[in-house]
Amino acid sequence: MLPTALDQKADSAAIEQALFQAARSDPQNAQAHTDLGLFYTNKMQLEKAMDCFGQALQIDPNLRDAVWGRGFTCWLNGHGQSAIDLCKEFLKKNPNDTEIKQVLETILSENTQASLAPDPDFNSRKSIINYLIDRFGYKKYLEIGCKLDATFSNIKIPYKIGVDPIQGGTLRMTSDRFFEMTNDKFDLIFIDGLHLADQVVRDIHNALSHLNNNGTIILHDCNPVKEPHQLRKSMVPTWNGDVWKAIVHYRQDPHLDTIVGDFDQGIGIIRKRLNPDPIRLSAPYLQLRWSQLQQNRQQWLRLSTPKQIAKWL
Ligand SMILES: C[S@@+](CC[C@H](N)C(=O)[O-])C[C@H]1O[C@@H](n2cnc3c(N)ncnc32)[C@H](O)[C@@H]1O
Repeated sequence: MLPTALDQKADSAAIEQALFQAARSDPQNAQAHTDLGLFYTNKMQLEKAMDCFGQALQIDPNLRDAVWGRGFTCWLNGHGQSAIDLCKEFLKKNPNDTEIKQVLETILSENTQASLAPDPDFNSRKSIINYLIDRFGYKKYLEIGCKLDATFSNIKIPYKIGVDPIQGGTLRMTSDRFFEMTNDKFDLIFIDGLHLADQVVRDIHNALSHLNNNGTIILHDCNPVKEPHQLRKSMVPTWNGDVWKAIVHYRQDPHLDTIVGDFDQGIGIIRKRLNPDPIRLSAPYLQLRWSQLQQNRQQWLRLSTPKQIAKWL
């Protein structure tokens, strides 16, 4: 007798359960995570699949099926550049792998078509914020730290709140106080208040719980170019503080996708979705040093051009 649709559904659930158990009972078994990832790929549950392949690669970065699966699902999930980097890295060590070569060629040809699209016209905090509002139809904006309203007064949106204990915006208080007293939610939150990493980590944490679905968090001053610019004491006119450490801290989070625009002192962008390329730090973020940022800047910050950002969004 032929199996019915119900039989097939029951079989599929049993297979998923068995693969899930195999991965859970032997968490250091990269192949078990990969098998579960392949199952989810077949079911087109791409975020789950990406997650499984990512776990497999953390255990064994050279496991071929995991590289294939991660590259393929990253690409389908819109993370073309991460997929390209992963395949290229693998092909350096395994230049004759035809299947990985094929995946890479397909992604590269798709990326070339995308690169022929016109350049997005943002290159500053003000212009990227207005771009996001237009692109996603955002209605509610919050700015932390407004000063002379150079940004705040130029944001075109129906509802906006600006919080600053000293000047500018609409509310005279610290960000901590504001988040404590409100349940309001926003589509876009721009963090540009006190430029100390621990405060910024707190601002991001609070912003995440006040963010609407499909919302975006933007941060200024994430890419200091000289060591004195990122000291915790403000001693130079261009003071970025150690905001970069907060960004690097959140780059470890598997459920946040974070990049930094390579313009206007480094514009951090955080979206709530799977992180295609989480980093691991060997020390707590406040102990990170300038020399480490210099050595790891591209990987830690994921510095990106406006064109790359428009595609990544
Ligand atoms: C760099 S300025 C903001 C510039 C503005 N966002 C712009 O784009 O032109 C930083 C501002 O953060 C404010 N600030 C300092 N500590 C803060 C805190 N705890 N919460 C909110 N704002 C804070 C300062 O008063 C200052 O006006």
